[in-house]
Amino acid sequence: MCMHQPPVESLASLENMLSLLPSLAETKLVSIQTRGEFEQLKSQFLGSNGQLTHLSKKMGSLSPEDKPKLGKAMNTAKKDLEALFKAKLDTLLQAEKLASLGPKIIDPTLPVEPKLGLRHPLSLLKEEMLAALKPLGFSFAEGPEIETEWYCFDALNTPADHPARDMQDTFFLGPNLPLAHRPLKHKERYILRTHTSNVQIRKMLESPPPLRVATIGRCYRRDAVDATHSANFHQLEGLYVDEKVSLKDLKNTLDYFLKSLLGEGVETRLRPSFFPFTEPSYEVDVRLPNIGKLSNQWLEILGCGLVDPKVFEAVGYDSQRWRGFAWGMGLERLAMIRYRIEDIRYFYQNDTRFLEQFNPGVAQA
Ligand code: DAH
Repeated sequence: MCMHQPPVESLASLENMLSLLPSLAETKLVSIQTRGEFEQLKSQFLGSNGQLTHLSKKMGSLSPEDKPKLGKAMNTAKKDLEALFKAKLDTLLQAEKLASLGPKIIDPTLPVEPKLGLRHPLSLLKEEMLAALKPLGFSFAEGPEIETEWYCFDALNTPADHPARDMQDTFFLGPNLPLAHRPLKHKERYILRTHTSNVQIRKMLESPPPLRVATIGRCYRRDAVDATHSANFHQLEGLYVDEKVSLKDLKNTLDYFLKSLLGEGVETRLRPSFFPFTEPSYEVDVRLPNIGKLSNQWLEILGCGLVDPKVFEAVGYDSQRWRGFAWGMGLERLAMIRYRIEDIRYFYQNDTRFLEQFNPGVAQA
């Protein structure tokens, strides 16, 4: 008998050793902290010089019937070991990911450095406009942005087939909205208002003449957005109703108003135009000496006119007795001229670098 012959092991003892491998690995895995230690331990069990390989080499000494039995036990042990190592690897990877996020611990009880809000140029302009009109006796009113066609067009002498409606194409919301408006007329729909002139109608229905009222709000039109067009924008609307109102009152009011917004150096001119709700109607142009590229050019700034008697009739005012003037203007347009802003989109992006320029001295954290 050869002394160097390895001892022949029984199937039972090999199976026993195989079945112990997973729990042995599990115990050792508990103390593993790093990927290096992990790889080392894994190769001790599953590597080419590892325990599993070592035991598989014993297969040669088994009888042909026992060999498949050991093969089966080996497959089971291998699967269990792989599952254990995979679970540990997942835990290690997760820990590495958390560590890579840095040592920051969020403490929700710490005091926060407050950031001051910045005023939007359109809000600043709105305040300035209303402050300028107040000494003339104008009060401030608001109206809905979701409006019916009647308030936005019909009552303003713009019936459904009027070509002026094409220029104010808008967003239609259909007739079925649960809003507190008067009942809709036949075929009438809700729309997003195209101008703030609807507030003229609402105010006149609410209050008897005389009346001086201004409104500022958001309007909507079906417009492709570019540097000078936006599908929503802001308008100011002014309405003055009294017994003796003439074009001279309109011109003087607008001269005063535009001077207070654009400075004493502004020149104004009235150009005949057309609006369904005023007769006669005008566009007003302004010219300024000191506004960069636009200096010394006539720039259209607003529409105005004497209130058409048909508008008074629509709201039940005596059109023989009362006269009035009205005007409407875009806030963005005025701000663009005044501050030399070249793209209307800046107003809606809320970029603090833009807003800071209108809020000198307001430091941002
Ligand atoms: N609503 C007109 C528009 O959006 C502007 C306007 C023109 C308003 C003349 C008025 C007016 O009150 O009298 O184009």
